[in-house]
Amino acid sequence: MTMHQPGIFQEGTKHHAFLEFTVQGAPRVLPGRALAIAGVEAGHQVVGFGPALCEALARVAAPSRDFGFDALDGMDGMHAPATQRDLFVWLHGDRRDELFARALAWRDVLAGVADLAHEDHGFLFRDSRDLTGFVDGSANPKAEARMAAALVGDGEHAGGSFVLAQRWVHDLAGFAGLAVEEQERVIGRTKPDSVELTGDAMPPDSHVSRTDLERDGRPVKIYRRSSPVGGVRDAGLYFLAFSADVARFRWLLDSMFGRTGDGLRDRLLGWSRPVTGSIFYAPPREALPAAFGD
Ligand code: HEM
Repeated sequence: MTMHQPGIFQEGTKHHAFLEFTVQGAPRVLPGRALAIAGVEAGHQVVGFGPALCEALARVAAPSRDFGFDALDGMDGMHAPATQRDLFVWLHGDRRDELFARALAWRDVLAGVADLAHEDHGFLFRDSRDLTGFVDGSANPKAEARMAAALVGDGEHAGGSFVLAQRWVHDLAGFAGLAVEEQERVIGRTKPDSVELTGDAMPPDSHVSRTDLERDGRPVKIYRRSSPVGGVRDAGLYFLAFSADVARFRWLLDSMFGRTGDGLRDRLLGWSRPVTGSIFYAPPREALPAAFGD
């Protein structure tokens, strides 16, 4: 039976390391099999590949070839840059020191093959809030619905998942300058207890309004695993989401950035902006032993 990488769904861990590598050349296999397999089997690591690396690796095939992140320009000069990298490693766990050691081990095993082009270290903030103070994840699919949202369901790619990885930076002082009721209208939920606004109280340009979408009569569902990252000066969110269908990411971003022709964009963009953007493919775990050599 084909199986997904279990770390995708391992919730509740306190610390995260997000590593994005640029790989040199077009290797048919990457070093680091022991590291790759042990972490994935333990359920606290997810590995994904960018489109070019998927093409190069002898034994990894994604359901679509051209799935890389394209930059996008939105209303009011809003921009989402593309910084597509080749290899993504997401480590999570409850010990910051162990996580750091594992991140170093990845850098070392890939030395001479891949450069660590971007890293972020994330942490659980209070009761799972983003750094603006709102609970992040309330409307995330639960139980079996998480799998349906995140994983390719059947066929030869069953258990694979597309991954959107985007580092965002907040203007926390600017956002804090809004009255709490106004902040709630920006997000579309109440701040203390994360209750969704309803009826006339829900603005059409709130973050929830712009991301609670339907397409062809079906809800556009992704499974989010974002984490607060950075320090006081570059506080933000490492937006991380998994989807069975890569097109959903674009539909959501187009809606947020005001590219759907209804004259609206997500108000959250006034206080948060993306500074990186990559899409990876996290293959079923069976594909990993062939992708990594000793
Ligand atoms: C700085 C960046 C972002 C922040 C701080 C943020 C924060 C939040 C918060 C607080 C919620 C409401 C609670 C919840 O359901 O989780 C939410 C909902 C959601 N966000 Fe974001 N988000 C960000 C970026 C994004 C991006 C880039 C996407 C998609 C590409 C996205 C997709 C969604 C979706 C699908 C929902 C659930 C909507 C619903 O069905 O109610 N978010 N986000």
